[in-house]
Amino acid sequence: MHYTSEEIKNLVQQTKEFLTSNIVSDFTELESLRAVIRFHEWQYYVQDNPLISDYEYDLLYKLLEHTEAKHPDWQTSDSPTQRVSSDLVDQFQSVEHLNPMLSLENSYNSDDLQDFDTRVRKLCNLDADATLAYFAEPKFDGGSIAVIYENDYLIRAATRGDGSKGEEITNNARTIRSLPLKAAFSKYGIYKAELRGEAVISKSKFEKINAARETEGLALLANPRNAATGVLRVKDASETANRGLDVFIFQMAFAVDANNENVLFNQKNHSDWMQILDALGFKVSLHERKVCNHISDVITYINDWTAQRDAYAYDIDGVVVKVNELKFQEQCGATSHHPRWAVAHKFQAKQATSRLLTIEFQVGKIGSITPVAKIEPVQLAGVTVSSVSLHNEDFITARDIRYGDQVLVERAGDVIPYIVKAFPELRNGTEKVIEFPKECPSCKTSLIREEEEAAWRCPNFFCEAQVVQRLIHHVSKDAMDIDGLGKSLIERFYDLGWIHQMDDIYKLDYQAIAQLDGMGEKSAEKLRKSIEKAKHNPIHRLLHGLCIHHLGKKVSKLIAEHLPYVLDLQNWKIDRYTAIKDVGPVVGQNIIGFFENPKNVEMLREMERLGVNMMQLEEDRPRQFTADSAFAGKTILFTGTLSQMDRKEAQNLAEQAGAKTLSAVSSNLNILVVGENAGSKLAKAKSLGTVEILSEAEFLEKIRSN
Ligand code: IVH
Repeated sequence: MHYTSEEIKNLVQQTKEFLTSNIVSDFTELESLRAVIRFHEWQYYVQDNPLISDYEYDLLYKLLEHTEAKHPDWQTSDSPTQRVSSDLVDQFQSVEHLNPMLSLENSYNSDDLQDFDTRVRKLCNLDADATLAYFAEPKFDGGSIAVIYENDYLIRAATRGDGSKGEEITNNARTIRSLPLKAAFSKYGIYKAELRGEAVISKSKFEKINAARETEGLALLANPRNAATGVLRVKDASETANRGLDVFIFQMAFAVDANNENVLFNQKNHSDWMQILDALGFKVSLHERKVCNHISDVITYINDWTAQRDAYAYDIDGVVVKVNELKFQEQCGATSHHPRWAVAHKFQAKQATSRLLTIEFQVGKIGSITPVAKIEPVQLAGVTVSSVSLHNEDFITARDIRYGDQVLVERAGDVIPYIVKAFPELRNGTEKVIEFPKECPSCKTSLIREEEEAAWRCPNFFCEAQVVQRLIHHVSKDAMDIDGLGKSLIERFYDLGWIHQMDDIYKLDYQAIAQLDGMGEKSAEKLRKSIEKAKHNPIHRLLHGLCIHHLGKKVSKLIAEHLPYVLDLQNWKIDRYTAIKDVGPVVGQNIIGFFENPKNVEMLREMERLGVNMMQLEEDRPRQFTADSAFAGKTILFTGTLSQMDRKEAQNLAEQAGAKTLSAVSSNLNILVVGENAGSKLAKAKSLGTVEILSEAEFLEKIRSN
């Protein structure tokens, strides 16, 4: 920790005083104000835990600017105002690193890691059963930088360049507020030090940058890495200042005392240096890293990060594994390319380039037209992708995507793949502009686009494509959940003229089905059983299955809670809908419109005659939480591997008990349930000190007693 609790108390007290007094009368007081501002910058940029509002920070900063302008002789070079220099750089100077910035050897699987462990043991003369600790932390995906401190001041920053020489970017680096301009190295007997780290931009910051660029009509940036490396090398430091870069320090690469003696080995472990850098106010991977006593623990750590990388605030492309003890690092040495004491375990790539071959314009269940790009198949995070949604016309226009373009495709975790951008610079002149159709590709009706809607729609309710999509939706997992009846069977029955609307599904002729190619008695009987089962569904499934615009799963459940009988909706006026929390007037109007059509009411009556349940069941009713329920109103997160259920089931149980699930550890989190091999989330939750930590068994016990 950079500050003691006594210091923090003091700084908080002084913050209050500066915010109310508005006057700085001498140099000493100005130094206190600077210390206060540095403290809040550290809370915000290094700890991710601001203690004051942006507005209050601005007040303090303005007071500092104002006082320095009035008393130029009170100015200091490490003042928070001295981060952004007004000098423009014409050309970056080439500078030599104090020792070479090497690369890392890559590993892709646990065999590679076992081999690495064997090699290190050999180099260090360690038996297979001797303890050999590894320091593991995320491999941040940004641009590497080297920063030099001399006499406690940041004096130089450089990019990696070719490893021995890089470009001097001190002006830009000074604007990065997780990088202190002054740090008390002298307290540790260090006169000059070189630190290595990765300059990164958080995913949320990156989204904001691209959203702003999209509004301004500027080319989109491909990913947070490009955003970070690009802005490290801009000529105008104020641009770097505005981009919101962070630096994670990952190595103490050089350290000498005032007599130029090497003091790197004054510490036993790499982790000890990281602890010191944390205490000096640098941003290090305090919550993410782990010291592992065996390579098998490293493998577990990697598996944990592979699973949670998408939920992490920064893009990471792997895990770096380093021998922790510095003596052993020395013994391993390095090749000209990489140290022999470290390895980078790389995750499967999330992005790849491909070519856009053609576009299919698909008609959805309410008539929305979705352009779907067919691309040359590419491997993304272990899955072959050949089809990618382009969402709507504006998405294509904003990115200027054309037929034949090289495109950058991304697939992150569970997120459906999407096209990040096209590469106009790689065009050869044969690419063609994409014309959005004016007519429905299925029924040829003219498409319409309502104000405020992103999609073009086919207004023909009887459009064949829409009818089929509605039927497919009706039987889908989230709606009536009819097992064994999917897209292809629905299309087949429709083509045979057996089903035209939803009630037809409940009066299929199973003998005829048994005669179909590839079906037979058994399959027909199975289908009959699942359709019979679906007839007893709770009504929220039926409501969702009706394909009313905006009547999704959640709203269907909310309405079902207040609805004894489905056909009562014939009499519901708009107020009945809007009286329900989280149900809006738009969906209310759509439902009213649906029930105003006698054909729809007749269809529902027919379904009722065929045995489809229309009455509110126990499952539809609201759940009552007693105020003393252990989960009511609490936030919860699951980490690690659960042994008795999968994560989705566990989340459902918690939600049914009144909890809300979160995807990351933050100060808003109340409960963390820990399965096997939990990693950094557990560490972070522990460090917060406010999170209740439960084992899987304890969680289940609480659910039972709820
Ligand atoms: S340690 C001697 N740790 O990965 C090498 N590198 O492919 C010491 N990187 O150039 C590097 N996160 O820019 C290390 N936690 C981390 C890292 C990391 C990202 C980058 C670094 C390096 C590149 C090697």
